[in-house]
Amino acid sequence: MTDLDNQYCWELQNRYIPGGSSTCSKRAQYLPEEPPVIVRGEGCRVWDADGREFIDFRCALGPVSLGYCHPVINQAIREQLEKGIVFGYPHPLEGEVAQMLVEIIPCAEKVRFLKTGGEAIAAAIKIARAVTGRNHVLQIGYNGWLNSLSPTGMVLPNQSATQSLPGIPAALSQLHHGCRWNQREDLEAVGQQFGSDLAAIVVAADYRNLEDGRTFYLWLRKFADQYGAVLIFDEIVTGFRLAIGGVQEYFQVTPDLAVFAKGLANGMPLSVYCGKAELMDVLESATVSTTYGGDALSLAAAKACIGIYRTEPVIEHFWQASRTLWSAFNLLCRKYDLPLKVENYAPFSLLTFDPDCPANFREQFFRAVCDAGVTLYNGGYVCYAHKSADLEEALQRIDSAMSKL
Ligand SMILES: Cc1ncc(COP(=O)(O)O)c(C=O)c1O
Repeated sequence: MTDLDNQYCWELQNRYIPGGSSTCSKRAQYLPEEPPVIVRGEGCRVWDADGREFIDFRCALGPVSLGYCHPVINQAIREQLEKGIVFGYPHPLEGEVAQMLVEIIPCAEKVRFLKTGGEAIAAAIKIARAVTGRNHVLQIGYNGWLNSLSPTGMVLPNQSATQSLPGIPAALSQLHHGCRWNQREDLEAVGQQFGSDLAAIVVAADYRNLEDGRTFYLWLRKFADQYGAVLIFDEIVTGFRLAIGGVQEYFQVTPDLAVFAKGLANGMPLSVYCGKAELMDVLESATVSTTYGGDALSLAAAKACIGIYRTEPVIEHFWQASRTLWSAFNLLCRKYDLPLKVENYAPFSLLTFDPDCPANFREQFFRAVCDAGVTLYNGGYVCYAHKSADLEEALQRIDSAMSKL
């Protein structure tokens, strides 16, 4: 063991990093079973600093969709690295990847690149405000920390805001209205109150109730048109996962603008905001700009990644693997009579704990599962590297964990 063991890493990150991690949802909660750090990944497996191996269903919280160290993606990154990372003029890959995205994303006529999902949503909101000359924004679901401005919205995936929003001026907060997925009466109430000043409706899917999307997205399309607001789909999780083109392809409803990030470049930091040319062209006057927007390393990874999605059955694999994993998981929950289940088997699935389950059950569950060598999130992402044998092994590990609860 090197001096970089779990304990040392944990002490270092808690001493120097507020909250222990730059990504709130990554900080381990259940030490010593849960890994405080990951030092290496390969395929669907990761290793912590003590050398413990886990079958991983966190997948970096979504972006690692083909598996860690995918040889084709790594080769594309290596080749570009030899030629340079980022330049003072655009790299040809910027136009090439933009063209690929226009070919596969239904709403995309023009495309721009950023680094994170949250800033891409902020850019889309700015476009909507610039085009409409309006101020208010209606948000459904979590859209990144930059946009967590409403006291009735979400501050993290799965975490609602409280009435106090430290760091957010009230004047800004009053322009953002958080509504719940498919709560049409609440949405209509906001529409009636602010409709003539409503710039944008931003929606991220509720994975637990995904199938509601079949009617809800159509309803939202009409709702946005009724008020003349710009409809923005947050496809950060759904893009390159439910379908290559996200919910807009899956449910066949086309928004005005959309944002993609996770799944686009197998973990390289790259986000996309895209949409109708007449809206995107407002960027000639409404400024959105960053030095790293078109970095060649991320674009090389994206080009290789999109190539794999187009030629291999990646999406089909997600659906199959997710069904195999979570249907067997639910059977195990029943076998051991545990107050826990997964609601649906879409390629990103969430765990649902019974509201009246014992107070420490959640903690005991996660401790046991980590101890058995499986890392879950508040649900789990499957990736292309989760092959049948890996899923079988993961289920054996989960079975052994559950048998001890
Ligand atoms: C639906 C959704 N939108 C936006 C974001 C924010 O993306 P990022 O963390 O890259 O800023 C996330 C992150 O988890 C997300 O799940």
